[in-house]
Amino acid sequence: MPSVSSGERVVLLPGDGIGPEVAREARLALELLVPEIEIEELPIGGAAIRASGEPLSRETIDACLAAAAVLQGPVGDPEFDAADVRPEQGMLALRAALDTYANLRPVVADGVDVLIVRELVGGLYFGARGVRDDGTVFDTCEYHPKQVERIVRRAFRLAKSRRGFLTSVDKANVLETSRLWRRIVDEVASEHPDVAVEHMRVDNAAMQVATDIEHFDVLVTENMFGDILSDLAAAVVGGIGVAPSASLSDGGPGIFEPVHGSAPDLAGRGVANPTAMLRSTALLLRHGLARPEQADALTRAIGVALASSPTADLGGTATTAGFGDALRAQLVADGAPR
Ligand code: NAD
Ligand code: IPM
Ligand code: MN
Repeated sequence: MPSVSSGERVVLLPGDGIGPEVAREARLALELLVPEIEIEELPIGGAAIRASGEPLSRETIDACLAAAAVLQGPVGDPEFDAADVRPEQGMLALRAALDTYANLRPVVADGVDVLIVRELVGGLYFGARGVRDDGTVFDTCEYHPKQVERIVRRAFRLAKSRRGFLTSVDKANVLETSRLWRRIVDEVASEHPDVAVEHMRVDNAAMQVATDIEHFDVLVTENMFGDILSDLAAAVVGGIGVAPSASLSDGGPGIFEPVHGSAPDLAGRGVANPTAMLRSTALLLRHGLARPEQADALTRAIGVALASSPTADLGGTATTAGFGDALRAQLVADGAPR
């Protein structure tokens, strides 16, 4: 078949550890579903440090900025645990460069449909840090009101498009940034009488996610709380191997990436679950490439592969590649819409 280019390009950043293994399955699925899309593969994280000395090069940032969307595998490598230049700095720099402030982490399973909306480019991850003369080390949680307002507004819009129930998670009994957060949620709430809002402190939220996740519709929170709660929520509904995410800006390319890390314990063994990466690919098809039919087809095929060929984390015996084979067989049987 002649290859047809639509001029649209996806940058694929396979990442570290199990990243290249799950990225391979995502690439094969994309090639089957949207053969007209050009895929440009570039290193990030530990792979990029090995190639060029830095975890994210200027060329890679420019390629991502010019792409329709970025598909990213997990980043992180224990080899650099004690190094000054760390793989994770590359992904944080990419999030900042693309201003992907809205990290959507859907948590979906039988009877559960929750959307975690995590602020992604502020808070403790990006505040002032350093070492004082007396040896005290500090990281600072900082938020400008505008940073809070844009993520809160986005969460209200998302809640409106769903069941109209928004839980804002904070630690307002202790933190100034949380009191700012709560005030802005209340201000924006007055513009959205059709959305029911509750405030919940993060310690209680962790307990509620663990024991009664069905309670939630949309949960919006700051960067660090969202990081922790999304791993917990993933564990509640089937594990970290199946949890995808979409990191969106206002109009620029989004970054689509699994919630899980590079799983150094599994790397190189070909047994990682590619579901989270494939579900992130489905989010990319829907939100990054406006291909809802292909996104639906991929989501259906993932469901079939999960039932027929579960990987070890789900109690099965399928390899990463075996799962991918089952997935693509289903896509072909389904007529792989083009
Ligand atoms: P991790 O998510 O890599 O692993 C936690 C546990 O989950 C491990 O037991 C691992 O084997 C398992 N696991 C993760 N993904 C899986 C998959 N697809 N299939 C089956 N099992 C899976 O978290 P960690 O061990 O804390 O971190 C390892 C490295 O990854 C660190 O360098 C960390 O900084 C990085 N990290 C990156 C991201 C990201 O890129 N988004 C997220 C989390 C951690
Ligand atoms: C995630 C990861 C990253 C984060 C790390 C690797 C910087 O845990 O995407 O959830 O904390 O954002
Ligand atoms: Mn995390």
